[in-house]
Amino acid sequence: MDLKSHIRGIPDFPKPGILFYDVSPLLAHGPAWKAAIDQLAEAVRPHKPDVLVGIESRGFLVAAPLALTLGVGFVMVRKHGKLPGDKVKHSYDLEYGTDTIEVQANAVAPGQRVVVLDDLLATGGTMAAAISLLRQIGADVRAAAFLVELTFLKGREKLDVPSLSLMAYDE
Ligand code: PRP
Ligand code: MG
Repeated sequence: MDLKSHIRGIPDFPKPGILFYDVSPLLAHGPAWKAAIDQLAEAVRPHKPDVLVGIESRGFLVAAPLALTLGVGFVMVRKHGKLPGDKVKHSYDLEYGTDTIEVQANAVAPGQRVVVLDDLLATGGTMAAAISLLRQIGADVRAAAFLVELTFLKGREKLDVPSLSLMAYDE
């Protein structure tokens, strides 16, 4: 299965000069999407997660079906202001300004093994922030996994856990 044939490169989005890698066609193609989740399951299973975490919003699309495939739970890391109850938050720098993500304080039990999922690894800022956040609630973060990695942005250098990706682009 050629998964890359289901990723669409859209020039000049969201800004001029940026090539946006759109995963929508992969999600829309039943057999290709199932193959992607199955391949990710094989890559993630050796890390023996107790729970998978998805990062809002596109990380949810990956983490939820993968959790079902692996037979483990699914936890949401959300953008600020969306989750009820006791929460822990973490702010991180963007190109312009800052952003804040949150997780429910009891979402992961201390010491539970966690693998964190997102659709795409670019600069690594989002995943690094999610890993910091999860460690604040005691998670044992074992790996980060992605559908797509933009290797030229060197995001994996920001991550101190193994990084897995199904598809890599070097420009
Ligand atoms: C995109 C993508 C990753 C992140 C990668 O999310 O889904 O989460 O950016 O970039 P980074 O490695 O440079 O941090 P975005 O914030 O656009 O929001 P969305 O998932 O809600 O669409
Ligand atoms: Mg995202």
